[in-house]
Amino acid sequence: MSAALLRHPRLISLEGGEGAGKTTAINAIHACLRAHGHEVVLTREPGGTPLAERIRALVLKPDEAIAAEPLSAEAELLLVFAARAQHVRQVIQPALRRGAFVLTDRFTDSSYAYQGGGRGLDAAWIADLERRVVGLLPGLTLLLDVDVETGRARANGRDLWPDRIESEQDDFFQRVRAVFRERAQQDPQRFALVDASQVQQRVAADVVACVEQFLQNGEGA
Ligand code: TMP
Repeated sequence: MSAALLRHPRLISLEGGEGAGKTTAINAIHACLRAHGHEVVLTREPGGTPLAERIRALVLKPDEAIAAEPLSAEAELLLVFAARAQHVRQVIQPALRRGAFVLTDRFTDSSYAYQGGGRGLDAAWIADLERRVVGLLPGLTLLLDVDVETGRARANGRDLWPDRIESEQDDFFQRVRAVFRERAQQDPQRFALVDASQVQQRVAADVVACVEQFLQNGEGA
């Protein structure tokens, strides 16, 4: 794969911190795209293929045999990119090639936010991996933005067993949010920022409005 980034109009990603309401929003976008008559592949990261889902479990819910061994930030980054390498080649590229929309719950922006912002790894290294391993940018990225306290209060109400990353402290999630917002500011053409402090149905309606606008502008055509 070439070391350049191609922005693909039919690749749509949804991003955000914990408790931002991604699930309700992604289901609403899925329904919207299908109502327009499009084939939609709904997927997620880390994950989306059997191998990538195994890697997801290693990163988020390690079993007893390995849970005691601290996972280094560097290994975490390479694992999420290993999962992404499979996901891009096995699922995303074939779907885009046959003209389908790919709607993914998280993509490379999450690596900049969590491993770059949260863990403090060098963004230039992530950018290099992105060019070499992924080569693709979404045509539209919907960022569900909510302050850390509100998001965590929601997530805590839902998750009885928080995973490795959900167990991080608030300052980690403040850095994650800051990187997401910075990236949205730097690329307003690709990003739509949605206020995710609203009730979930309102968030979903705003997200669908962004997708409708995107389609109306002839993007994704
Ligand atoms: P979620 O799908 O429930 O949001 O869980 C995925 C978790 O994985 C979330 O805490 C963010 C994290 N993650 C990373 O740390 N780096 C990545 O590149 C991706 C895609 C996700």
